[in-house]
Amino acid sequence: MLRRLHRFDAVDSTNERAFADLAAGAAEHGDVYVARRQTRGRGTRGRAWVSPEGGLYLSVVLATEVLPGPGLWTMAGGLAVHDLARGAGVRAALDWPNDLVSAGGAKMAGVLAESRDLRPDRPPHVFVLGLGVNVMGSPGEVQGRPVSSLAQEGATLDLDGAEAALLLRLGERVTQAMEDPVGLHRAFFGVCLQAEREVEVEVGEHVVRGRWVGLEPRRGLALEMAGEGATGLRWISPAHVRALRASDAS
Ligand code: BTN
Repeated sequence: MLRRLHRFDAVDSTNERAFADLAAGAAEHGDVYVARRQTRGRGTRGRAWVSPEGGLYLSVVLATEVLPGPGLWTMAGGLAVHDLARGAGVRAALDWPNDLVSAGGAKMAGVLAESRDLRPDRPPHVFVLGLGVNVMGSPGEVQGRPVSSLAQEGATLDLDGAEAALLLRLGERVTQAMEDPVGLHRAFFGVCLQAEREVEVEVGEHVVRGRWVGLEPRRGLALEMAGEGATGLRWISPAHVRALRASDAS
């Protein structure tokens, strides 16, 4: 599924390179952009993604005739970095929606799916899915949050090995997203830190509390409600989730 590979030593942002090629009509579904360093790496919510040497920075162009469900590419990317970590012998989980964290809760990788000028009625629907993985060293803390790397968590693989493994895993998860979205959602739920726990979900201005018991492409997150008048299952689309956190002790 992955096609041409564009490799850079240093680049502003691999997501930005993909968008620049798309704007020039020079990129297609499956094109990959990989860098050893980024000078203007982007994270979610407008944050910077610090991208020194020792990390893996990779973006793939995804263009489909069918509009992907909310969060589909983010889940595929999260599962690919999770597969990478597990394959390297590192215990890891996905912290909703886009962080790969170690057993101790330190962030090792992040996922950023972006689109520009998306029109639901105008296929193809084009996204750039960016993955940032701390493979070797790590600063220990970024913006007050503990940060780690695969190597610090015991992986023995080097950057080339990590890149090859990630490309393989990403190809598999993108294919699964397109052919078996139910299985992909189930797999994502299976490795998510907050799954099967009491959670607080920010939906617009409201906070919904319940036990998170499932995740499906059509209906979204299933929350088991108890008490305060509301019982049974409540379904919430990932598109409406502003934040999700576990509210029980882990
Ligand atoms: C996050 O905030 O957790 C998401 C980080 C995503 C970083 C990756 S690195 C490759 C791609 N290019 C970017 O500028 N960002 C993404």
